[in-house]
Amino acid sequence: MTTISLTVNGAPVVAEIDDRMTLADFLRDKLDLTGTHLGCEHGVCGACTVLVDDEPLRACITLAAAMAGRSVRSIESFNDDPTMEVIRDCFSEAHGLQCGFCTPGMVITVRDIVLRGACADAAQIRSELAGNLCRCTGYAGIVKATELTRDRLKAKGE
Ligand code: FES
Ligand code: FES
Repeated sequence: MTTISLTVNGAPVVAEIDDRMTLADFLRDKLDLTGTHLGCEHGVCGACTVLVDDEPLRACITLAAAMAGRSVRSIESFNDDPTMEVIRDCFSEAHGLQCGFCTPGMVITVRDIVLRGACADAAQIRSELAGNLCRCTGYAGIVKATELTRDRLKAKGE
């Protein structure tokens, strides 16, 4: 067992964990933050994407013990995030989700893409989204929602 101190969604957390516990299990089972979804658990599907020190990272293949001193942000922390507010609206309008299983990881990745400006056209968006798999939508709605988000943020001067 290891004791770690970190920040989760802006709040300090100190916890005793199994050395082999993943960040995804830590968030879901220790902190009840079940918005981080688990799909493949092999680093392939992106459903478990969270931000660590503002960079997207796959929580299923990251050890919680490696998060000591880091700042972790899960989907639960974006309620008041202005960029995520636009993304939510655009996903809804462009039918960017069906079952919603991939959606927490997908929208965290889309937020990163639009904030980096890595969304010039549909081809770049598809390339940037290559690490996030969706079993439902066929991606057309997700790409459209990302383009809509890009255009709306630009219109707002962001
Ligand atoms: S559950 Fe982590 S990448 Fe699939
Ligand atoms: S909306 Fe169902 S997996 Fe993406």
